[in-house]
Order: sequence, then structure tokens, then C-alpha cells
Amino acid sequence: MCGIIGYIGPRNGTEVVIDGLKKLEYRGYDSWGIAIKGNPSLSVHKQVGKISDFDDLASLPPSSVAVGHTRWATNGSVTKANAHPHTCCRGKVAVVHNGIIENFQELKQELRSHHFVSETDTEIIAHLIEDNLSAGMHFKDAVTNALTRLEGRFAVVAVSADSKNVVAARKGSPLVIGIGKDEYFIASDIPAFLEHTRDVIFLDDGDVATISDGISFTDFEGGVVHREPVEITWNVEQASLNGHEHYMIKEILEQRSTVGLAVDQDDAKVLKVAKMINEAYGTFFIGCGTAGKVGLVGSYIFSTVAKKHVNAVVGSEFPSYHDFLTPKTLLVCISQSGETADTLEAIEVAKKKGCKVVSIVNVMGSTMLRMSDEYILCNSGPEKAVCSTKVTTAQIALLTLLAYACVGRLEEGKRLLNSVSLKLDVMLDGQYLDEIRFLAKKLAGHESMYIIGRGLNYPMALEGAIKMQEVPYIHAEGFAGGELKHGPIALIEDGTPCIALVANDGVKNEILINALEIKSRGGFIIGISPKDNDIFDFWIPVPDVAIASPIVNIIPIQLLSYFTALEKNCDPDKPRNLAKSVTVK
Ligand code: F6R
Repeated sequence: MCGIIGYIGPRNGTEVVIDGLKKLEYRGYDSWGIAIKGNPSLSVHKQVGKISDFDDLASLPPSSVAVGHTRWATNGSVTKANAHPHTCCRGKVAVVHNGIIENFQELKQELRSHHFVSETDTEIIAHLIEDNLSAGMHFKDAVTNALTRLEGRFAVVAVSADSKNVVAARKGSPLVIGIGKDEYFIASDIPAFLEHTRDVIFLDDGDVATISDGISFTDFEGGVVHREPVEITWNVEQASLNGHEHYMIKEILEQRSTVGLAVDQDDAKVLKVAKMINEAYGTFFIGCGTAGKVGLVGSYIFSTVAKKHVNAVVGSEFPSYHDFLTPKTLLVCISQSGETADTLEAIEVAKKKGCKVVSIVNVMGSTMLRMSDEYILCNSGPEKAVCSTKVTTAQIALLTLLAYACVGRLEEGKRLLNSVSLKLDVMLDGQYLDEIRFLAKKLAGHESMYIIGRGLNYPMALEGAIKMQEVPYIHAEGFAGGELKHGPIALIEDGTPCIALVANDGVKNEILINALEIKSRGGFIIGISPKDNDIFDFWIPVPDVAIASPIVNIIPIQLLSYFTALEKNCDPDKPRNLAKSVTVK
């Protein structure tokens, strides 16, 4: 949520930052802004709307130092005044920020002699720095001292008209520094500068980086800290559209290979995590949104394959379980970004009780990964569409692999998942896409739809509903097939579209009966299944892959979500009100 990019070096930083903001737009697209360092002034330019709509670079002054921000509004509505960067009263200091400052009202009261122009929490940082500069502190100390006053999570970058230093710091929100030849990039996420360098330093919580013609690190108390660059494996093609119209379709189609890539792990690592699960006394799968649904499907997979009980809990609810936690409890946290605030809070709660934490994440260097005792990477490459697709199936594959590893059948698990990967490659051809596009045309005119599943595919019914809500804005709900007659069936009218997820498993006949119950009341049944059935009004075939059916069943719904969004002229990559990487609670 909110994207930050800064540049210090010999190029035109204004251009680098505007370009980087466009690459970070998935983190927020309400408004954007840039602070450009002149000599000895600072100019700030802001606009409401998407940075991708901006094409007037020539209107901005060039500079070797610039800092930009693309916003997802939290504190304060979507206005130009609330867009970042925020400045102090004299316009000499500019600040961009990602996160939430919890004590901002208290601090604003203390700073009442200052002139505030926005409703944001961020603006207080600029005024705190201004006070410290007036008290005679150097810029770096003025920023660091200001940050010690803040409660909450933040990533902050500050620039001053009067200092050659740019200061960047983090506590709870991501910040990564790209190291080029005599140049530095500061960003919330690697894709912002991936075309310039793959050498990065991930800031740790409590790190302050001071950058000019070199870089140094301290903690918030001023103690020197050493940080070494690492080389990341993502490449520019992975982070760009590469000929596709949208990231969402690119990422859906990448599932031809990402399931296989997820399974391509170091066996020792998988076995180590499996051992941790086997030895734990109480395992929780934690995630939010789609990742929460992955956790739920994981609990079914563990029950079926590993004969193990696992609790699936959404991140924001997990703190309510703190009474049950002991040092023998294990959290397996599932996240694409590794930055989801609710899941991070679950980890904090668990750590206080001495629990162990494993994370299954896609982003190297993310906060979650670094808070965990052990981690497994999804290996999916950057996921840029706001809506999660390829990482979802990679995570399901990894939980399946772990379930097999827990019972000494790792190789069998790998064989199954690699065969799924091959089948997806065959499934996702042009004709398949055309058929789903045809169905999308029918669905686009409907306001509501329902998705039913049982067993392993009940969580996929819930996940399918998220897909249909967040991208084409259809009121979709997922139900366990058996629950219909306990209430929801009253919603079925003539022509109501309903997807039935019918795998070739032990609950096949029951879910078909549930689909028939809906059909008998006028519902239009879309069957996602390896075999056609008379009950289906429209059949979407999927390969028969036994326990891995959630992986193949969710992909047609991802496609349906994408094509229905196109039919309705909705932007599939930037759905309204949402942002990738939910770094606020
Ligand atoms: C839905 C979606 C969200 C995320 C959720 C957790 O398509 O993308 O529901 O799954 O915000 O995000 P991560 O996985 O980054 O923790």
C-alpha cells in the first residue's frame, strides 16, 4: 500500500522516479507526487489520479535527486493536498511515507504552531524534522530524532533543500535500496528499479540509511549498522508486461510454469519445515484474503494427505487466539508480499508467546520472511496485478508438497505437482481462453453469482468469490455445497449464475446434487469439472489431478474474472479501492 521511489545519482532523477512510480502503481493509485531537489530549493509536484496517465515529463525540472510516492489513501481523502510528498512550513523538507502513524493526533496537537495543509499523518513528520533543524540538528539527526517520536508502522524517505543527504528509514513497512554504479535507488518494492540494478540492500526494522555520494546505516539511536547487498534473481521480463495487455492475464498464463517452479525447492528445506510441523503441538495456517483461503485449503490437504489437524485462521483474527499459544505452537504464514500488516501482527503476537514461525512468501527480503524462523519462497517472480493468481496456486502447491513431506512421501508429492504443471501448460491454450471469454460475455450482465464447492474445493469457492468481486465487481459469494439449504438457496432466481466446483473425489456426488438443487430453482449451472454432466448448462473442463484439484479449479475462475472485467470496462490490474500489499491493519 503506497509506493515509494527515490533516486540519488548522475541520471535525471526526475525521470527515474516518474518511471519507477509507474512500475509501483499496483501499490496505490489514488494520487501521486514527486519532490525534486534543486539548488538550493525543493520543488514538489502532485496530482490526483493514476501516475500511468501522466505523460508530461518535460513539465518537471530535471535533477539528480528526487523522491516520489503513489498513494492508497488511509489518513485523509483523495485530494491533491493529501498526496505525498508533504513538506514543512518553509517548504525546505519533503517527506514520503508508507504506513500509519498511530499517535499523529497527539503529535499534531504538539505541533499546533505549524501550518498544516493536509489531513494526513505524514505531514507531522516534515514538521517534526523542521523543529529539529531549527534546534540546530543536522538533517540526518533531525530525521532520525523525528522518527523516534512516531508510533506505528512506517517507511519514510526525507529530502531537504539544504542537505545533500537523503534519509530513508523503516519500522514495519518495506524499504529496499538498489545499489547501482555511483547511484542509489530507494523503493518500497524491487520492480521500481529492477531495470537499473539487481544488487539490493533490504532495510531491517529500525534501520536508517543516509545516502548522498555514498551510503551509511545507523539505528534510530545513531549506532552504526552494517548492511551488505544481495543479488536478487528476478529479471526485467518477469516484472514487465512482456507483450500482454494486462499483468493479470500475464500472471494467470504464467501458471503454465509457476506451479512447477514452486515445487522446485531444496528438499532439505522442505523436510526441515515438515519436521517442524510434525513436532509442533498446534499448527496454524495464517493468511489474509486469498492467502487466507490458501490456508483453509491447506488444512483440508493436511487432513487428507498427512492425516494432521491444522487450524486455518485469518491474520486479523489470529490475535484472539493468543490464550491458546505455547512455545510448541507453530505458525505457517502464507503471503505473496510478505508485508501484510494483519499477518505480521499475528507473528508478533505468536513471538511473544515463544511460538515458532514459518513463512511461505513470494517476495525475497520481505518483513515476514525475516521475522520467520524458516521460510519457503514461492519462486513465482513478481506478481503485479493487485489480484493474486499465480502465487495462489504456487502456495497451494507448496502446502500440498509439505503435506506429502510430513508423511515421508515427498517424491510422490513432487511427481503429482509436476504432472499438474504439465497439464496446466496444455489446458491454458487459446481455445480454452476463448470459451471462458464467451462465458464472461454472459456473466457481465449479472449483478450476483454464487460458487459452491465441498471438501478441498470449498475454500476455492470462497476464493473464486473474491476473484469475481475484486476485479469485475460482481456480488459473488462462495458456499459449502451442504450449506445451501440452510439459507443461501433462497437467493437463487431464474437464471442466477452458479459455479459448481466438481472434482473427481469423494464428495463429487454430493456437490452434483447441490448443483441440481440450484438448477431445479432456475439457476444457471457452470460446472468446473474433469467430466461434463447433464446438470451443467455450461461446462469448463479441467484436468483430473486428484488431491491437486484446487489448483486447476481456481484458474478458470481467475480467467472468468479477468474476461468479465474486460467486458465491463473495469481495469483488471488496478481494481477500485484496492492496492497490492496491504501494509495497514
Ligand atoms: C486477492 C488478494 C488479496 C491478498 C491479501 C493478502 O486477490 O490479492 O486478498 O491475498 O491482501 O496479501 P498477501 O498475500 O500479500 O499477504
